[in-house]
Amino acid sequence: MSSQAEMPLADAVRAFLADPAITPFTTPGHKRAPGLTDPLLAADAPLSAGADDLHLSGDVLGSAERLAAGLWGADWCRFCVNGSTHGNQALALAAGRPGDRVVVCRGLHKSLFAGLVLAGLEPVWVRPDVDPETGLALGVPAERIAAALEAHPDARGVFLVEPNFVGVSSDVAAIAATCRTAGVPLAVDQAWGAYLGFHPALPPHALALGADALVTSAHKTLTGFTQSAYLLARAGRLDLDRLREGFDALNTTSPSAGILASLDSTRALLAVRGEELLAGVLALVARARAELAAIEGLRVLGPDCGWAYDPAKLVLALAGTGADGIAVERDIWAEGVRVELANRDTLVPLITIGDSEESVGRLVSALTRSLERRRGEPRAAGGASAVWGVEPEVALSPREAFFAPRETVRAAVAAGRIAAETVAPYPPGIPAIAPGEVLSTPLLEALADAAATGTRLAYCADSSLATIRVVAR
Ligand SMILES: Cc1ncc(COP(=O)(O)O)c(C=O)c1O
Repeated sequence: MSSQAEMPLADAVRAFLADPAITPFTTPGHKRAPGLTDPLLAADAPLSAGADDLHLSGDVLGSAERLAAGLWGADWCRFCVNGSTHGNQALALAAGRPGDRVVVCRGLHKSLFAGLVLAGLEPVWVRPDVDPETGLALGVPAERIAAALEAHPDARGVFLVEPNFVGVSSDVAAIAATCRTAGVPLAVDQAWGAYLGFHPALPPHALALGADALVTSAHKTLTGFTQSAYLLARAGRLDLDRLREGFDALNTTSPSAGILASLDSTRALLAVRGEELLAGVLALVARARAELAAIEGLRVLGPDCGWAYDPAKLVLALAGTGADGIAVERDIWAEGVRVELANRDTLVPLITIGDSEESVGRLVSALTRSLERRRGEPRAAGGASAVWGVEPEVALSPREAFFAPRETVRAAVAAGRIAAETVAPYPPGIPAIAPGEVLSTPLLEALADAAATGTRLAYCADSSLATIRVVAR
């Protein structure tokens, strides 16, 4: 059996890139030709006729994927070069046939929504609880999943996001048990929790808690190239043949061996040094959390939200300080400090194994200075936070709405119409409005407020939301 310290694919890519005797008459066209190639392309290599031979007979990718499956205790793993997006959509294609129902958390990422369109699945939405103070999403109670499965005994599976973007997890073990009893697979989008299960102070990952599939981005929090993600699954309730076909249907025929290799080396790093590196992250986050929690009015999300909380996550709710998160972001940006999410009420700086005491110290002091400078009257959270509390009224399936004839109307007169496009405050890309849902005045107003206060509204034709695309009457 191979050791988790081995890196069959990363080694093969390194060997290919280092071999001066190779004279390629293959893609990529740049051939890393001196004088022609941008240095950014130095690590660009193909898998076929590059890291492996033309016939892939070395099975270097397969070997690397089996090592990753072994590390997560999965029966099957594929490396994604289109992020967790690819994994989510492959899972949707594997879950059922057009017209089949699936139970889905409404805090889903827009990639899974697109997966529902591709697969023609009909979502039975379950909403997470919402924290009344911050407006941020909490977990989905297990009883809510049980009730949805009871009300829809024909449902073919359950899709959750765990932890959610703000670090909160549902009781995945209880939900997995419910799914087992109902005989349906549980697929967990764990895009933000690639490190879960690799330190005793962290919650176990979703497969260890009984999920049938797990998708996670290596690029978000670990050392994968941007775009890299793992799709991991267990046989039994999921049809792994269908999953493989769905995965291949969506995959490029020219995956970057550099991206794939970074998934191999990330897996080895996690296996060999994960616990040590994650101990460092946990200490850095704990320190930042303690220092920032001392700022008057600032709420640092944590286990006091009443749900399982990812101790490696740092989420700051600003409403109590009166400071505008977009102004704070501007201040700290000017000092070179960049965060993963900023809107009026919320800031999410991502602290990872790539950080140090020095980098986190800079973050904390820049934030502390700016929050004091921008302090104002405490206010209620609103705007972009409204996305978490969406209670959708569904008129058409995602697929029907996606392909329906459409027209553009002024948002001011759009309430009651059926949305034909996605509107998602970005990051994190959770659809506040999704095709097929009936538009409501409070939601349109909350989104207009979010846009007016500096949040980018993504995936819609008019990002100011003065107009919106609706299904034509
Ligand atoms: C919950 C969730 N799932 C999936 C994705 C997509 O991940 P990727 O960018 O790796 O495709 C994201 C991205 O932000 C996300 O937040």
